[in-house]
Amino acid sequence: MIAPHGGHLVNRMIDASTSASRIREAEQMPSLILNPREISDVTLIAVGAFSPLTGFMHRDDYHSVLEKMRLQNGLPWSLPITLSVTESEAAALNLGMPVALTDHAGVPFCVLHLEDIHPLDKDKEARLVYGTDDKSHPGVAYTHTLGDFLLGGTIDLLRQPEAPPFPDYHFDPAQTRQMFKARGWERIVAFQTRNPIHRAHEYIQKCALEITDGLFLHPIVGETKGDDVPADVRMRCYQVLLENYYPKERTLLSVFPAAMRYAGPKEAIFHAICRKNYGATHFIVGRDHAGVGNFYGSFDAHHIFKRFHEGELGIQPLFFDHAFYCKLCLSMASTKSCPHGAHAHVILSGTKVREMLRGGVRPPPEFSRPEVAEILIEAMSKG
Ligand code: ADX
Repeated sequence: MIAPHGGHLVNRMIDASTSASRIREAEQMPSLILNPREISDVTLIAVGAFSPLTGFMHRDDYHSVLEKMRLQNGLPWSLPITLSVTESEAAALNLGMPVALTDHAGVPFCVLHLEDIHPLDKDKEARLVYGTDDKSHPGVAYTHTLGDFLLGGTIDLLRQPEAPPFPDYHFDPAQTRQMFKARGWERIVAFQTRNPIHRAHEYIQKCALEITDGLFLHPIVGETKGDDVPADVRMRCYQVLLENYYPKERTLLSVFPAAMRYAGPKEAIFHAICRKNYGATHFIVGRDHAGVGNFYGSFDAHHIFKRFHEGELGIQPLFFDHAFYCKLCLSMASTKSCPHGAHAHVILSGTKVREMLRGGVRPPPEFSRPEVAEILIEAMSKG
């Protein structure tokens, strides 16, 4: 079994036997209401999905991650994991004090052991994480909604802040590791997605499955931007595909309850590290991974892996060129494996597909399986 990032699977969940008393204590502490992304980050830290992080970043890790894509101790890490507050909220807190982190109703679910209060440099973060200061980028826009200070410190999760989404498909890293072991899978390829699965996705997944033991289909179901297909609709698409086109004994569908950052190449590194923590040995990186608009080059998310030495990330990236159906090859192919020109390729833009689905028109089966198209058309017709 692959080792978690940093060597040890973090567990910051308080034992159920003490959680009631710890929650009562937390009710007496100064408190902060977290937004949905911060809530999701806390729960992912607690279950070890973000190992080796045990809490929100201190200034040293924060700047080191922005500038060098490494934690202060040199371990690769590409995205800041931070908790922001306003200046007046920061002024009311003292280092060393425990702070209750609450859900939107103000009910505590976590304690932060406050170890650092440091300024959030929004422009620097935008430039170094997203590669742009353009506020039309959803990640940059999010950064600019935050307070001007960051709190660093270890967390303890006292209870789940909300019922987990898609409970039948919700497995923590310790559980997926166990499941892979029970199935006898040694080489496990993880697939990140925030979209319904089209034929191109299916093609690269199955190419990867040809050289591994199991496919770990791990769609992100935390916050995504408004025009992405909602997670519940996507889940129905994944289920119908798995039912009809995937080998059950070689596929595991499980949700990744993280927020999408749209940080392109840097998010590809982050996605790979998290999937290593879930026990995957390989990770698919295709065209414009975690991209948005035209902010990144189609293969920037491949190139960025060269910034780490062989083996440093532990998980092996599997890179795929642009995939499509080719009418002359009469099969799925990619710019790497197909000799024909664009005229032979069935390629549809996201905008075009949305337009077709909205009009009740099924995209061609070479682009999308009819079962998936049906679900999407029905969901769109309901608004
Ligand atoms: S992402 O934001 O999660 O990357 P999406 O769900 O569309 O978006 O992509 C999931 C994975 O499939 C990513 O690794 C992406 O690079 C890859 N991918 C998507 N479409 C294609 C395609 N046509 N050809 C090759 N790779 C693709």
